[in-house]
Amino acid sequence: MEKLKIAGGYPLKGTVRISGAKNSAVALIPATILAESPVTIEGLPDISDVEILKDLLEEIGGKVEISDDEMTVDPATMISMPLPNGKVKKLRASYYLMGAMLGRFKKAVIGLPGGCHLGPRPIDQHIKGFEALGAQITNEQGAIYLRADELRGARIYLDVVSVGATINIMLAAVRAKGRTIIENAAKEPEIIDVATLLTNMGAKIKGAGTDVIRIDGVDTLHGCRHTIIPDRIEAGTYMIIGAAIGEGVLIDNVIPQHLESLIAKLREMGVQIESGNDQVFVNGSANLKAVDIKTLVYPGFPTDLQQPITTLLTKAAGSSVVTDTIYGARFKHIDELRRMNANIKVEGRSAIINGPIQLQGAKVKASDLRAGAALVIAGLIAEGITEVTGLEHIDRGYSNLEEKLNGLGATVWREALTKDEVEQLKNT
Ligand code: EPU
Repeated sequence: MEKLKIAGGYPLKGTVRISGAKNSAVALIPATILAESPVTIEGLPDISDVEILKDLLEEIGGKVEISDDEMTVDPATMISMPLPNGKVKKLRASYYLMGAMLGRFKKAVIGLPGGCHLGPRPIDQHIKGFEALGAQITNEQGAIYLRADELRGARIYLDVVSVGATINIMLAAVRAKGRTIIENAAKEPEIIDVATLLTNMGAKIKGAGTDVIRIDGVDTLHGCRHTIIPDRIEAGTYMIIGAAIGEGVLIDNVIPQHLESLIAKLREMGVQIESGNDQVFVNGSANLKAVDIKTLVYPGFPTDLQQPITTLLTKAAGSSVVTDTIYGARFKHIDELRRMNANIKVEGRSAIINGPIQLQGAKVKASDLRAGAALVIAGLIAEGITEVTGLEHIDRGYSNLEEKLNGLGATVWREALTKDEVEQLKNT
């Protein structure tokens, strides 16, 4: 086990290149199950979630090759192997195996997904969609059993706008008989990316990116080559880093339209931002202003940037209120930020941040992926050395983190944990 050590206070400048989107990758990889011939995905991020999904595809008989940032999956020899336990529990997105395996084999057994602990994360809308398509579903000893004699298109209204349910229902519906209509669908860019891959595989999908998606089922899907979209949350994290301690940071390989809500908030705080076709330039400011933020479904402010921007707001003059309407309990990073001298209160779904405060280096623990990002940003702006544990969370979603940060002039490195530190961590 390792910890990340950060020597804070070094101003950052230069260019950072953004990797492919984690939340697309974790859906695109399972989507390959639906084809009958090899699918190649280009631009994948180097993160542990991708590794785990590769292993899971191999467990069900797929042939997977990775070279640099490209993965080729030959799904021809896959079988509907039950996956009740093991690696499937390591990431939340393993729920996409349900839709993809149901779509191809009409049956699947998948252990209930793990992933970040952000409070309750039900999958009732996924199940509702599968049932509407004709699947029978039971939950036995922590695994979901799905089976259908035949999948038939249906009209499905999502009671909650859900990224996962929208994608999962698309996966199950593309090879169903007849037309499926998903109403109140999520509109995140990752949904368009998955629909683009499926369309290139021969699926008939209209309306991805709007709140009504129409899918006309086809009998078979074929292989293709697809380039993943850039990771808007990774890009947003580096924009926040640039705002916090940047003296001119150019974020390369980004779609600025995906980050309009963040750009607007950073400008409101007094950060200088210029955006081009696939680049965003960010210059920090010594006089940041407090702002209020409410997370919303896309194109609103993303919940995945709520934790990182909370750290930035410790530097802003005045009182900021950050409210998470998507995950009301996504505040595990706050206690850690307080250990670093932040003045933050949590009230219900809101964090109230009073600044400006000079953060101090401390030993802190990442409880989930974006909490980890928030603590790394805190370490970069703090006085002294910060040590972050819980790196398994950060490694799920940030490709080559130290290389990218050190490339901008940061001083960040990994060290093995001592035996005592491992024991301490087990007891917390
Ligand atoms: N919800 C339900 N029932 C469902 C599904 C969702 O009540 O069946 C609720 C959730 O509890 C939540 C809201 O609906 O309050 C939105 O959840 P959604 O289903 O959209 O989230 P998700 O698909 O499980 C994805 C990302 C998350 C990101 C959310 C929201 C992936 C693999 N994960 O999760 O990303 O926070 O959308 O944008 O795509 C992250 O990257 O750190 C991360 C957690």
